[in-house]
Amino acid sequence: MTDVAGSPTLAWPMERVCPFGPPAEYQRLRAEEPVTKVRLASGMTIWAVSRLEDIRQLLTDPRFSSDRHAPGFPRIIKDQKIIPGFRSSLIDMDAPEHGEKRREVLSEFTIRRVKAMAPRVQQIVDERIDAILDGPKPADLVKSLALPVPSLVICELLGVPYHDHEFFESRTYAMLSRDKVLAERQAAFGELLTFLDELVTAKEAEPTDDLLGRLILKQRAGGGVRHQDLKELAFLLLVAGHETTANMTSLGVLTLLEHPDQLKKIVEDPSKTLGAIEELLRFLTIAEAAGLRVAIDDVEIGGQLIRAGEGVIALTISGNRDAEAFVDPDEFDIERSARHHVAFGFGIHQCLGANLARLELQIIFDTLFRRIPGLRLAVPAAELPYKTETTIYGLHELPVTW
Ligand code: HEM
Repeated sequence: MTDVAGSPTLAWPMERVCPFGPPAEYQRLRAEEPVTKVRLASGMTIWAVSRLEDIRQLLTDPRFSSDRHAPGFPRIIKDQKIIPGFRSSLIDMDAPEHGEKRREVLSEFTIRRVKAMAPRVQQIVDERIDAILDGPKPADLVKSLALPVPSLVICELLGVPYHDHEFFESRTYAMLSRDKVLAERQAAFGELLTFLDELVTAKEAEPTDDLLGRLILKQRAGGGVRHQDLKELAFLLLVAGHETTANMTSLGVLTLLEHPDQLKKIVEDPSKTLGAIEELLRFLTIAEAAGLRVAIDDVEIGGQLIRAGEGVIALTISGNRDAEAFVDPDEFDIERSARHHVAFGFGIHQCLGANLARLELQIIFDTLFRRIPGLRLAVPAAELPYKTETTIYGLHELPVTW
């Protein structure tokens, strides 16, 4: 394991100023130490990059690798182990393999394909809101809306039976939790892989009309089905496709409820919702640990030499609060132009599901606040259970009433 030499001064992750604020230290880092050393729970020391411009350079430079098996790749969890023979498909790959694999599945996520899903997403959201309105008050918006909508959508897209949702949602949560013991995380991972192995095997025998079925037919026509590839892709899409959007939904609703003047603007003029979503993505930046890389050559970033074999993290939440890139960055303003944020990453690994996430969030916010205009928190924001222990920030529960 290669560590950055010298003694570190800071530990990472640093705590957010709940519920919305990035760690207070990041502002100082941007001003004084834009590329600095941080110590991880695994004991490794890596470089942390905090300015937006430097983050963009880091995430587009091919001399930084995303290969989690490469020596020196940052391990953020105390007893983190690399599982031999398994890769999380795209996010673990570098060019040129990454591009080949991404092109194979890209057509499923174009704006046109995603737009075609809108009527079904609307139907799912309407059914969930019907159930909320027919149910008791207060309602937990995570369980009743934020989690089931993206779970159902990714299940239908991939061809995963939704009746298994409690199984894969709980295993995903366990895998993403920093405070679970290694055995528990490994068990969750193994169970999820077995589940997807069986699913892909069944689809190989009888391809269904869904993303996995279509890929099987495409691979069969082009030289043979690659079972392991399909399993790894299914794993990535299932995990990335529900937990992220669920947390953006619950935190997004909370942020809007806590900023009634901003919420009023989208309720009065839904053409502002898409802009509000970009601002929510910037403001919340939930996938804090997504920008991990290792240098495969010596590279200079922000005036700092990073040597081959040294690990790096792009502090995207910090970049999204960089005053050089956003005016009054700590203000939540849905009318600013926030599209240059890095909440979906940047460069070749930029989120493949971004269009789908935007569509789901747009339909959820527009429909929820239109159909339940008196929606409000049932407990003070400070008392809500925040997911501070997971690598994706979010809420365990969001009790609301109306
Ligand atoms: C990649 C965030 C929703 C699938 C990423 C990355 C980020 C991210 C930051 C970059 C990782 C890196 O640089 O290493 C988010 C957020 C979401 C979201 C904030 C919700 C608001 C989704 C959805 C899907 C998805 C709905 C699937 C349907 C992926 C995939 C990648 C990825 C496949 C890897 C792309 C590649 O390596 O080429 N996401 N994501 N994401 N995301 Fe998302």
